[in-house]
Amino acid sequence: MGSRVYEDASDWNRILLEVRAHLPMDQRVVFEIRRAGPSDAEAIAAAHLDSIRSIGPSYYEPAIVHDWGAHIEAGLYRRAMGRGEVFFVAVDRQHDVSSTVLGFSSHAQYANDHGVGVYVRGSAARCGVGSALLRAAEADAIASHASSLQIDASLAAVDFYTRHGFIETGRGSHLLPSGRSMACVFMTKALNAP
Ligand SMILES: CC(C)(COP(=O)(O)OP(=O)(O)OC[C@H]1O[C@@H](n2cnc3c(N)ncnc32)[C@H](O)[C@@H]1OP(=O)(O)O)[C@@H](O)C(=O)NCCC(=O)NCCS
Repeated sequence: MGSRVYEDASDWNRILLEVRAHLPMDQRVVFEIRRAGPSDAEAIAAAHLDSIRSIGPSYYEPAIVHDWGAHIEAGLYRRAMGRGEVFFVAVDRQHDVSSTVLGFSSHAQYANDHGVGVYVRGSAARCGVGSALLRAAEADAIASHASSLQIDASLAAVDFYTRHGFIETGRGSHLLPSGRSMACVFMTKALNAP
């Protein structure tokens, strides 16, 4: 997936968002969505672990949360980028000095199937960050001529994906690298080209 595809989805090149304008000023989150590169891998790993450890315990037992995050390290994302998976990050722009990655999304193609995933730090949840990240990944999938998206959704994300038009196709489990299984919901979404 080269830069040409991404330029086609140029809305997501660098967009500054202030979301939930109806919220009090101290609850607003100002963030930028941009395409991630290998130099973002450490920050993506930190946000991924934070998301699992802060949001996951409300949906899974401790042993599953532990194993879910156990394999996470920066090389995972660098290798995925090398295979063509496209990542976007939401960067905190609330404070001039902060550049914390609040969350990330990705779009990967496996043969004719396209998958996306979204993870947001617990401290930034329910502020619209995940929705903006999902839209970026979806735009990239559409630019790659995907006609549908597939997700093995964690129980923590089913309501979120449902809100964004995904429908359940089945229930099962996802095998973690440790060998432990975590319950998940298989979901799909038909895409309409813009
Ligand atoms: C799923 C996730 C990415 C959502 O990110 P987010 O930034 O909180 O999502 P948004 O604020 O954009 O939510 C948009 C809408 O989705 C729905 N939604 C999101 N999280 C929800 C939750 N925990 N329970 C119910 N509905 C939820 C709501 O309708 C929400 O709108 P509202 O806040 O106005 O009610 C985040 O909860 C997360 O990182 N979870 C843990 C990691 C994970 O499981 N990722 C998916 C792997 S497949």
